Amino acid sequence: MKTHILLTGSSRGIGAATAALLGDDARVTLVGQGTRSGIPADFTDPAAPQALWQQALDALDGRIDVLINNAGIFEANPLDAAHDDWVEGWERTMRVNLTASAELCRLAVRHWQERKSGGRIVNVASRAAYRGDSPAHWHYAASKAGMVGMTKSIARGYAGEGILAFAICPGFTMTGMAEDYLASRGGDKLLADIPLGRVASPEEIAAIAKFCALDAPPSMTGAVLDANGASYVR
Ligand SMILES: NC(=O)c1ccc[n+]([C@@H]2O[C@H](COP(=O)([O-])OP(=O)(O)OC[C@H]3O[C@@H](n4cnc5c(N)ncnc54)[C@H](OP(=O)(O)O)[C@@H]3O)[C@@H](O)[C@H]2O)c1
Repeated sequence: MKTHILLTGSSRGIGAATAALLGDDARVTLVGQGTRSGIPADFTDPAAPQALWQQALDALDGRIDVLINNAGIFEANPLDAAHDDWVEGWERTMRVNLTASAELCRLAVRHWQERKSGGRIVNVASRAAYRGDSPAHWHYAASKAGMVGMTKSIARGYAGEGILAFAICPGFTMTGMAEDYLASRGGDKLLADIPLGRVASPEEIAAIAKFCALDAPPSMTGAVLDANGASYVR
């Protein structure tokens, strides 16, 4: 029986690399999501995560075994913006990065409880969850720290039912998201902060996501995997 996987944010960057890696694995049937590709779902719309879950279930014969929450945004929210704009920016990032992931996690856990089947969640968080981020990105760091806390709660709450949860914390990874940031903050200075001497490739993060999705031993549930070139060692 093939493993049915719902992967969010599969259109670009880490998600596209993960989709390519999983798509090459004969053990897997994959459904991807993007705002513009795969099953379209825009997580700024509060109705989108639940609708996506249902569409993914329909596309996968009513069974999802693995959920990979990878979709995310990294938008600047300057402290000196008008108050209402700042709050709106905060809520937008929370909704896309954390609330949408939480809704999908909840639907997945309930799906597996009903089926008494077990399942796996892989949440793509960030180094920012532990290290914090720039002054314009409080919300980003908080959303990713929220993902880590949620992942650990799921791991602890449902391990006895065979429901496993993992979080991945990439540092800079060479996607559109990192390119914008490197350009805005001075690439050389940032690279000097990474002992490995380079940012991660999307394929490296994809390899970790695939491992968690398919092969990581159950005793690893609750693990948070860092991939940051030793730029932040906990
Ligand atoms: N790149 C890094 O340096 C880095 C570091 C740490 C953590 N991460 C995390 O890794 C994950 C993937 O990042 P990435 O660098 O691959 O990003 P990316 O290249 O910017 O791709 C983002 C993905 O998320 C989807 N997405 C964006 N806004 C969405 C929305 N409103 N609703 C639904 N989907 C939406 C995009 O879909 P569309 O193409 O359809 O818009 C795209 O597939 C994110 O959670 C990010 O926070 C990245």
